[in-house]
Amino acid sequence: MDKRCLKTALKDLPMGGLRYLKTVGSTNDAALAWAADGAADFSLVVSDEQTAGRGRGGRRWYTPAGAALAFSLILRPQVEEREKASLFSALGALAVVEAIEKRALQAEIKWPNDVLLRRRKVCGVLTEMVWVGDQIDSLIVGIGVNVAPSAVPPAESLAFPATSLETEAGQPVNRLSLLRDILFALRRWRPLLGTPAFHDVWESRLAFRGETVEVCVEGQPSRSGQLAGLGQDGSLLLRSPAGEILSLPFGEVHLRPVV
Ligand code: BTN
Repeated sequence: MDKRCLKTALKDLPMGGLRYLKTVGSTNDAALAWAADGAADFSLVVSDEQTAGRGRGGRRWYTPAGAALAFSLILRPQVEEREKASLFSALGALAVVEAIEKRALQAEIKWPNDVLLRRRKVCGVLTEMVWVGDQIDSLIVGIGVNVAPSAVPPAESLAFPATSLETEAGQPVNRLSLLRDILFALRRWRPLLGTPAFHDVWESRLAFRGETVEVCVEGQPSRSGQLAGLGQDGSLLLRSPAGEILSLPFGEVHLRPVV
């Protein structure tokens, strides 16, 4: 990957700006700094390697050189998008799912925003918000996809089983064309954020639907129930053994199937 190939791959997308870094600590950190410096909406930071990639819940995200797709998109939400800010991570996950589906693989979303292939994690999304006073000034949507098998961290360090796109596809996957497809899908779904169409497509790709799952919300006892679907606001609906529907809002949530 280099800046020239990246520019060519994204030439028909209206990027706000584009930065390619051969190596970086975290593309989210580089994007946060650029946003503070006035980056325009839909500006992108892409790197071939992260030395301090960040995951959700303060975890590390492994991005060895040349093996993964790691990027952060800077969005300047419109007024009407600000109240839907919690849905931007799902937007990122959905865009990745669609790009993977173009490669004839069936991807699913482990609520709220991990992308799975054959029930193994292939992509994570870390969205960070920058506030100015009581308003969201910018959103950084950071996306990491395990493209080559060497992007998958050692099994003993994983909280959830993982895989790579190439392992599942059984053939090489071009990272730049994958990035292009993700960005196109993101642009297509962004105006539909929070609409029934967005809700339905997200719900249709939900992993473990109808299965019994265990959900741990930080600081609370874990609960299990049948994964019933998504609430209108994107919350997770769990059916308790007594048949009650429980709605779980976004937060630091860990979800796994009960086997
Ligand atoms: C998760 O924990 O599942 C979220 C992982 C998000 C990783 C991506 S890689 C690009 C961007 N830069 C980071 O430091 N993190 C995100």
